[in-house]
Amino acid sequence: MMVRVLIIEDEHLIRWSLRQKFEARGYQVAESETGAAGLAALEEEQFDLLMLDYKLPDMTGLDVLGKIREKDKDIVVIMMTAFSSIESAVDAMKLGAYDYVTKPFDMDQLLRTTGKALETTKLRREVRELRRHMQQTFGFDRIIGDSPLMAELYGLLDRVAMSSSSTLFLRGESGTGKDLFARIIHYNSDRAGRPFMNITCTALSETLLESELFGHEKGAFTDAKSAKRGLFELSDGGTIFLDEVGDMPLNLQAKLLRFLEERTFRRVGGTTEISVDVRLIAATNRDIERAIEEGAFRGDLMYRLNVIPIDLPPVRERGNDIKLLAQYFVDQFAKDFKKPVTDITKGAYDKLFDYAWPGNVRELRNVMERAVLLCDKDAIGPEDIMIGRAGYASPANPATFVLPADGINIHELENDLLRQALARAGNNKTQAAKLLRLSRDAFRYRLEKLGLL
Ligand SMILES: Nc1ncnc2c1ncn2[C@@H]1O[C@H](COP(=O)(O)OP(=O)(O)OP(=O)(O)O)[C@@H](O)[C@H]1O
Ligand SMILES: [Mg+2]
Repeated sequence: MMVRVLIIEDEHLIRWSLRQKFEARGYQVAESETGAAGLAALEEEQFDLLMLDYKLPDMTGLDVLGKIREKDKDIVVIMMTAFSSIESAVDAMKLGAYDYVTKPFDMDQLLRTTGKALETTKLRREVRELRRHMQQTFGFDRIIGDSPLMAELYGLLDRVAMSSSSTLFLRGESGTGKDLFARIIHYNSDRAGRPFMNITCTALSETLLESELFGHEKGAFTDAKSAKRGLFELSDGGTIFLDEVGDMPLNLQAKLLRFLEERTFRRVGGTTEISVDVRLIAATNRDIERAIEEGAFRGDLMYRLNVIPIDLPPVRERGNDIKLLAQYFVDQFAKDFKKPVTDITKGAYDKLFDYAWPGNVRELRNVMERAVLLCDKDAIGPEDIMIGRAGYASPANPATFVLPADGINIHELENDLLRQALARAGNNKTQAAKLLRLSRDAFRYRLEKLGLL
């Protein structure tokens, strides 16, 4: 990349010697003699590095830093200061300067410092670019649906995304969009610039889950060869999405509750209280009230999580949204697969509206994906819509699978299901096992048995 450096410094000789060094490295250099001129230059052009003198004719370097900060520039600043005013350099660091160099310069050291600073600029820009991309990807407009239940949700979402300290609890059947909503809320809150971390409580053993969440000290357990920070520390300032919190072991529920009450925690095997500013978004597709009755979930934790409950409606209660969603997925997959499909026939819609969608939006998405693949006309017909076959247990249809009149080869069926689950989970065995309501071990066992491993 072409590196652009701005030097704000009133002493001609210093500007000159820096310019020599920087230009020898191929950097492009601009100079300003005063704070005001420097700020104006920063308005005009994008720089990668700012060399900022502490004592300027019209203001101090700290004033300049303060002004840059107001504008939230991600430029990296190195303060130049006389050795006698080293305290002000420390102040500058507090105001966000990257580093400082003292006059007279040790040129080797100065070039090392600027080299590192430029690395930082590059990373910051990349992070910003990625964030911008995520914000686009997870805009509110990603949520399809204008049924009354969804309209109600939008109002709520708008308010909760911004009140960014509150704990949220997303409840809804499988495939209703809990994952999607959690991300959208994060990327539209003032935490968007900080990490979004995601953990599924079912995927890990109790010990591992605890250490993933809270971190551990060296030697806390056999495998803990070194200390490790957990998600709570890593996502400081950001959001943790705690998926399937209904499956969290009771022991850990107590620890989570303590965190929610005190906002501090200890690493596994640690004694220090660590406090972080993390927003928690929990989600579950279990009937949590029933889990409480059965003693599998703590009532007091539910109460804490439930500060703002967000209930995601199942597709079968979303009326006309089925139409919007179906059309949305057709457009999307037609584009992905480069197929000239644009419409959905009335017959196909009848089929979509007749079905109970136990797998909700995810299932609808899969059905539309297959429909687009199967369709060889410009409109999807009922014959392209393959639903209600094996797979989902549906409240409307308790027999998930109807045995055909002439029977079926159960080995072929199992083989077929395992393959489909793997394909749908993008070869992720844990996810695939989940689709079949199997433990990972049971899933692997079956794969092995059928020679699929
Ligand atoms: N309202 C919506 N508009 C558009 N797409 C949606 C909507 N709701 C869900 N989706 C899509 O449906 C799929 C499933 O959603 P998601 O993974 O968020 O569900 P979930 O509630 O987390 O399910 P599970 O409980 O199984 O984890 C995703 O591809 C998601 O992008
Ligand atoms: Mg999910």
